Amino acid sequence: MNASPLEPIRPGGMTRRQFIKSVIAAGAVTSAGLLFTGPAGAGHKTSPGAVERLITLTVNGQQRRVDVLPQETLAQTLRGKLGLTGLKVGCDRAECGACTVLVDNEPLYACSTLTHSVRGKNILTVEGLARADGGLHPLQQGVLDEQGFQCGYCAPGFLMATLGYLTANPNPTRQELAHGVSGNLCRCQDYDKILTALMRGAEYMRRG
Ligand code: FES
Ligand code: FES
Repeated sequence: MNASPLEPIRPGGMTRRQFIKSVIAAGAVTSAGLLFTGPAGAGHKTSPGAVERLITLTVNGQQRRVDVLPQETLAQTLRGKLGLTGLKVGCDRAECGACTVLVDNEPLYACSTLTHSVRGKNILTVEGLARADGGLHPLQQGVLDEQGFQCGYCAPGFLMATLGYLTANPNPTRQELAHGVSGNLCRCQDYDKILTALMRGAEYMRRG
């Protein structure tokens, strides 16, 4: 689809729609990390003498072998070692939800989950949402159509939290969904638009 002449062009020649699409498909935000003051997630200090251990994780349907320290968080492993940078780190202390992933369909804060604790479980990140043919997941499509996010940094976490919530309650009221994603914060703070976008995505999911 051609861009509207009124649609602002982002750095790199992307329209806003193209920019948001890249964010919700793979969390491809670069400069937005500057909005957050928390550590970058992969920069934790390691204990002296700590030894990595080779383990197998199931991530987005694939078996991934990776060396993991005993105290390493899932956010560190996924972002820093497996290259899944769609997962964002905001606060790095279980407050903002930017790092939300699904573990056996349950939303979890990856910044506060030890990687060793999720061995044998199914981990889903935003990179695993798209269809096999490359098409967007219905939830992603709803967010794209409503343009609910501004910078998009929080979008991957919201998407994963919403998907986890909808697994248990596929037809929520707006208020129920608001409560379901209340563990996710947005620095740009247009929660009303975000909720509209997520409700649209939920509607697309029900349609199949
Ligand atoms: S980065 Fe904020 S909850 Fe994990
Ligand atoms: S942090 Fe910018 S859209 Fe949520």
